[in-house]
Amino acid sequence: MFISFEGIDFCGKSTQIKLLKEYLERKNIVVEILREPGGTEISEQVRTILLSKKNNLMTLETEVLLFAASRAQLVREKLIPLLQSGSYVISDRFHDSTTAYQGYGRGIPLNIIDNIHKISVSDTLPDLTFLIDISLEEVENRKLKISNSELDRIEISDRIFFEKVRTGYLELAKSEKRFVVINGLEEVNHIHDKIVTIINQHTLGNVK
Ligand code: TMP
Repeated sequence: MFISFEGIDFCGKSTQIKLLKEYLERKNIVVEILREPGGTEISEQVRTILLSKKNNLMTLETEVLLFAASRAQLVREKLIPLLQSGSYVISDRFHDSTTAYQGYGRGIPLNIIDNIHKISVSDTLPDLTFLIDISLEEVENRKLKISNSELDRIEISDRIFFEKVRTGYLELAKSEKRFVVINGLEEVNHIHDKIVTIINQHTLGNVK
């Protein structure tokens, strides 16, 4: 089973991924966590280029192609072999991030983004995607707790950008059946319980 977690920066998905991994391991399920961009040696190098604030001259075309390059490597080197071995895979972001951030956020036409996905991921798509949704007010609150020097090239983007990204995610969730929207403002354990319930429903009781 391939599960992806999506959402705007600071939505809390990494906490939920950790809790879900622990839950599945308690059930003796083999599970691997991948992150995007990154997850292989080559993809991690691309991540460094993408997120470095030094690269403020990066064009949006370069950006979208680098995200796709990182993903193309991850899919072939890690994701496909893991899924073939029967492992569960949880990915901290996947191709929907490119649709939301570079498509809706940066304004690259969605038909171009879809064609890029065809090369980078082909038909290796998540079975289930959790969108952890939080308001822009909450993003601002959570951002205040982090010093500016710790924010990466994308996290320093303004509120208007993140508003577009959030809208994009919600549009995607409406159009794709594999999406489950979770209110990220709820209490951490409550969110976790919801996620576990949905996974159990999805696997028809295989993970009890
Ligand atoms: P992270 O902070 O969740 O590790 O993700 C890195 C940043 O990259 C985050 O701000 C979202 C952004 N991103 C994109 O803009 N497009 C993508 O395709 C992916 C995977 C991430």
